[in-house]
Amino acid sequence: MHEPNDSALLLHDAAQLLRKARRVAALTGAGVSAESGVPTFRGSDGLWEGHRIEEVATPQAFAHCPELVWRFYNQRRANLRNIAPNPGHYALVDLESNFFQNDRFSLITQNVDGLHRLAGNQRVFELHGNITRTRCTQCGRNEARGLEPLDDLPRCRECHGLLRPDIVWFYEALPEDVWDQAANATAACDVFLVIGTSAVVYPAAGLVSAAKEAGATVIEINLNRSGASSIADLCLLGPSGILLPQLVNCLRTAATS
Ligand code: OAD
Repeated sequence: MHEPNDSALLLHDAAQLLRKARRVAALTGAGVSAESGVPTFRGSDGLWEGHRIEEVATPQAFAHCPELVWRFYNQRRANLRNIAPNPGHYALVDLESNFFQNDRFSLITQNVDGLHRLAGNQRVFELHGNITRTRCTQCGRNEARGLEPLDDLPRCRECHGLLRPDIVWFYEALPEDVWDQAANATAACDVFLVIGTSAVVYPAAGLVSAAKEAGATVIEINLNRSGASSIADLCLLGPSGILLPQLVNCLRTAATS
C-alpha cells in the first residue's frame, strides 16, 4: 500500500495499468474544468451559491419562473465565453488520439460546458447535456446556439415555443441513447478513470461501481477523496490539470521503454 503522498509511484502504477489496457473509459466532473476557471458545484465558492438547486435546476423551477432559470444559465453561458480548456482536458485528448485510437477511449462527462469537445475529444458522452444547445419545450427542436447571448425568455425559431437549455435537471431522466453508450463503454473498459467528480449524483456516479463489477481497474484523480475513493483501486490526489499531463507523460515513457 503506497502512502498517499507517494505520487511518483502512484503515477507510475497508473501508467502501467493504462499501458496494459485495451479499452479505457473516463468519467469526468466539474473538477476537470476548475482550472479553466469554471466553478465546481459543491465547493465553498460553488456554482449553486446564492441559489437553491430547486430554484434553478429543476423542471419545477422552470415551470414556476423560467426568467430566473434563464438568467442563471445565460450568466453561465456568458462566463464560458472567456474560458478555455486546460492541460487536463488536453491530456485526455492525447489519450484518445495517441494511445487508444479506434473508439477504444470513451469520455463520459457530467459537465455541460462543452470543454472536452472543444479541446478535441471525439468520443464524448455528455450525460447531463450541453449548455450551448437549446431545446424547444413545444416542438422538441434541438439547436446549437454556441455562447451567443439569448433573451431572458428565448423562443423557438420554428414554432415560437419557449426554449430551455438542453441540459438535464434534477428529477429528470438522462438521455437514453447517451446513457446506453456510456454504460456500454463502462462495461467494456479495462481501466476506468474517474476524474474531478464528487461522485455523489446518480445515475452517473453508479458507473464507478458498474465498471468495477465488470472487472475494470478504477483509477481516481481528484483534489480530495470523493464518493468514488472507496471503490477505486488507486487514488491520485491533486489537481487534474497537473496530474493528467503527468500521467500521460509517464505512459509515453512506459510505452517507449
Ligand atoms: P462537484 O462540485 O460535486 O464535485 C467536484 C469535484 O471535483 C470534487 O470532488 C472536488 O474535490 C474535485 N476537484 C475540484 N477541483 C479539482 C481539480 N483542480 N482537480 C481535480 N479535482 C478537482 O461536481 P460534480 O461531481 O461534477 O448535475 O457534480 C455532479 C453533478 O452534480 C453535476 O453534473 C451537476 C451537479 O448538480 C446537474 O446539474 C444535473
